[in-house]
Amino acid sequence: MAFDVDLIRAQFPILQREINGKPLIYLDNAASAQKPDTVLDVMSDQARHAYANVHRGLHTLANETTEAYEGARAKIQAFLNAPSPESVVFTKGGTEAINLVASGITDSINSGDEIVLAISEHHSNIVPWHFLRERHGAVLKWVPLLEDGRLDMDAYRQALGPKTRMVAIGHMSNVLGTVVDAKEVVRLAHEVGAQVLLDGCQAGVHLDIDVQDIDCDFYVLTAHKIYGPTGIGALYGKLDALKALRPYQGGGEMIEIVEMDRVTYNEPPHKFEAGTPPILQAIGFGEAIDWLSQFNKEDIRAHEHSLYEQASAELSKINGLTEYGLSEGKGPILSFSIEGAHPHDIAQLLDRYGVAVRAGHHCAQPLMKHLGITATARASFAIYNTTADVEAFIEALHKARGLLL
Ligand SMILES: Cc1ncc(COP(=O)(O)O)c(C=O)c1O
Repeated sequence: MAFDVDLIRAQFPILQREINGKPLIYLDNAASAQKPDTVLDVMSDQARHAYANVHRGLHTLANETTEAYEGARAKIQAFLNAPSPESVVFTKGGTEAINLVASGITDSINSGDEIVLAISEHHSNIVPWHFLRERHGAVLKWVPLLEDGRLDMDAYRQALGPKTRMVAIGHMSNVLGTVVDAKEVVRLAHEVGAQVLLDGCQAGVHLDIDVQDIDCDFYVLTAHKIYGPTGIGALYGKLDALKALRPYQGGGEMIEIVEMDRVTYNEPPHKFEAGTPPILQAIGFGEAIDWLSQFNKEDIRAHEHSLYEQASAELSKINGLTEYGLSEGKGPILSFSIEGAHPHDIAQLLDRYGVAVRAGHHCAQPLMKHLGITATARASFAIYNTTADVEAFIEALHKARGLLL
């Protein structure tokens, strides 16, 4: 479909809101994106007209709901170009997907085995691996960034070795917007026999993802950053890699046989979907994928990148302002600080003018330490943002700066 930002905006009811008497300028998309009508409607329609539990019943509503739920899985499979629906596990978000893998490989982790992480990882892609360090003696090896925010590939090569079991790296940084060369990261890891988990929580909405081409072992998505609902995400895994994982939670649906003294497990993906899943959210996730897929991702990228460039150029004129992560081909995420002004104060003052940005460590404390700071302010752009949004943001930032300095 042709890219018309006004038509797109009209589909997001929340964008009509005013904040503190000013039109909402929503630039906190890397934290969570807004949802179009169609995503909200599909969940409400399903609940109103065709709702029951999935996989369990032989009645019409159970069958209709199961069809919609499994249909959503097929949409995510297509979105990632995964080879089969069985390789897509629904989780409650990105965090759960990573925990699922980290806890699933414990049986094969021995003391001294190494997990390689980028210094820019989100805490969701750090803390589950710390559990392996604390409980199983795994060693975390950290790869630094270059000056422009890209992964230091020489340091990455050096971090890999015969003890590397897993490389867990964000496809796009939630702070810097920088993108890793996923194929090369995977190729090098496979050379030493390690598996690779790519955290695509930020990349999913901006990049074209082809898990077969990338050849990663695991890929993580979260719906709420792709214009979908909260409480749902997906883990792609190569089927053999999924089969080798110990199940993460026990309960209904994930089993094959339960007896008093033994249990056997269902095949993936059901092996990892214990209990009643977030049915409506999964269906909403599928709808969000459909909604996004009507546009050419190249058009979306060009639109969002031009907003980023416009904002970055204006910010570079502000005295005492530092922008973090300036590499080519990065996503539309702009982190900055202003000398003498705390990022929290900047965000609070921007809110007075209706502008929503995020401030803090962005769940990336090791990165903050690496950059020698404690926090940044972050503006992140989405499909529905406009050049007028950027102008309003810059104008508000000048006013905020005037009040703070
Ligand atoms: C890079 C990255 N990884 C993981 C997460 C966690 O995802 P979720 O909120 O779905 O648990 C986030 C969310 O902020 C993120 O930006």
